[in-house]
Amino acid sequence: MRLRLAVLASGRGTNLQALIDASKTGEIPAEIAVVISDKKEAIALKRAKDNGIPAVYIDRNNFGCKELFESTLLDEINKYDCDLVCLAGFMRILSPYFLANSEQKIINIHPSLLPAFPGLHAQKQALEYGVKFSGCTVHFVDKGVDSGPIILQAVVPVYENDTEESLSERILREEHRLYPLAVSLIAQGRVKVEGRKVWIS
Ligand code: GRF
Repeated sequence: MRLRLAVLASGRGTNLQALIDASKTGEIPAEIAVVISDKKEAIALKRAKDNGIPAVYIDRNNFGCKELFESTLLDEINKYDCDLVCLAGFMRILSPYFLANSEQKIINIHPSLLPAFPGLHAQKQALEYGVKFSGCTVHFVDKGVDSGPIILQAVVPVYENDTEESLSERILREEHRLYPLAVSLIAQGRVKVEGRKVWIS
């Protein structure tokens, strides 16, 4: 059975595109059932439409409080009968309400080797800290910021002449490989979580 994914994205959606491509080639036994964005102009929505995937924009401003916004988000995810929620550059932190009410597991991709450099501008943080290696992490989402159990990581070198852009680009190439791989492992039932530990069989 193919896993049904809801992808939540606020921006350009290159990770979404990697998932779309991998599902089309059969590299991941999953299909993207819906793409949801909190930004009307998100390129991710266009990518969804171009690929015949339902693209849903939910305007946060229509809701007085975060819970109402999130309950609409949950309704959409359930409406499309999704098994897994993939955050791909979704720029809103999901509240404990969302996590408690989501019937699906939620995963995220982050452009650093967590637990180093959570939050915004992870690549800039890595450069300023002076690390020699950075990378990306796919993890389950918990109520902290980028703090859930780690599924997969990929490492890239940091060079002396790197800029935020050059490092981001090197990491992004790995993201596009790692996110489909993580989804594929989950879709094949090969990922087990015990506390903070994720076992891959
Ligand atoms: C990626 O760097 C991802 O790690 C982070 O947000 C960025 C999204 O990029 N969570 P894109 O929209 O997938 O191109």
